[in-house]
Amino acid sequence: MELKTVFSGVQPSGALTLGNYLGAIRNFVDLQHKAKCYFCVVDQHALTIPQDPARLRERTLDLARLFIACGLDPDISTIFVQSHVPAHSQLSWLLECMTYVGELRRMTQFKEKSRTQEVVTTGLFTYPVLMAADILLYDATHVPVGDDQKQHLELCRNIANRFNNRFGETFVVPEPYIPPRQAGGRIMSLTDPTKKMAKSDENPDSYILLTDPPDVIRAKIRKATTDAGREVIYDEKTKPGVSNLMVILSLCSGLRLDEISGRYDGYAQFKKDVAEAVIAKLEPIQRRHRELSEPGAIEHALAIGATRAEAVASRKLATVQDKMGLVLRESL
Ligand code: AMP
Ligand code: TRP
Repeated sequence: MELKTVFSGVQPSGALTLGNYLGAIRNFVDLQHKAKCYFCVVDQHALTIPQDPARLRERTLDLARLFIACGLDPDISTIFVQSHVPAHSQLSWLLECMTYVGELRRMTQFKEKSRTQEVVTTGLFTYPVLMAADILLYDATHVPVGDDQKQHLELCRNIANRFNNRFGETFVVPEPYIPPRQAGGRIMSLTDPTKKMAKSDENPDSYILLTDPPDVIRAKIRKATTDAGREVIYDEKTKPGVSNLMVILSLCSGLRLDEISGRYDGYAQFKKDVAEAVIAKLEPIQRRHRELSEPGAIEHALAIGATRAEAVASRKLATVQDKMGLVLRESL
């Protein structure tokens, strides 16, 4: 499908990791010059697990700052907060009435997350339906996400097709835009390279945060798990740790994997180069992030974003309500 409209969301559930940046946000920055783009801070998704209200508010604004610090331009892309556009939760309800419990039970993220929670809320269960609503409101043709969101997107496509078959063409069926592993689609944990890098990991040495200072980055990469032997070559099976660091170095320095491969004798210099490349990549982002922390700098951009998003979303919602047989208030 032609690349026309892009939608993606990130949860304000803590600082962003290098995995979030290399897997998702870096692509957002490229895409904003190629398509109409919507980037959303999905605060209502964060509520599916318990949150401290004051911290959630601060993290929501801070994520929007990081979006802009990473290179998203609020004059080109629509950057907004999910809860500012009520059509998201309204469409979510309508779509819940078209989604089967069996489909939601099969979601691996639900299975994993519900295992670690003391109580499991209905919101955690219906989370992927709200995600489908986010995407379908804007006729998104492409959804840039990391590899872990593939199953949620497949569900979104099923819901869209089901709706279109029952009520006539209404939704664009979106395509995933997931980079291959070597292009950052799945950045792995530094301490256990068989797991993805995640900010929810209890070991902070396993991830790099976009806000980590240089010494912390150096120390974490120095401690990163490498594999037997001393060759720096790309092989996900026998050298998962080295391969992950090679992807990170490649994406942060612009060198191709084959240019990195075989360049090093042992891991020490290799790791130093990885750390310096990450530090150099993050330095301008961290500087802009600090500048945007001035009070008021982000609020204005988010207000404009919400107004723009609302205009598109409310039109789509009315179409859906009408097709499903609700009496539109405007028609009274
Ligand atoms: P989340 O922090 O789970 O809301 O994720 C935000 C975005 O970053 C989503 O598109 C994820 O798929 C992506 N992402 C998260 N962790 C990784 C990772 N380790 N590697 C690549 N992409 C990731
Ligand atoms: N579920 C996504 C995540 O955890 C976040 C998300 C919510 C999203 N709505 C979205 C991503 C819409 C893409 C499109 O990363």
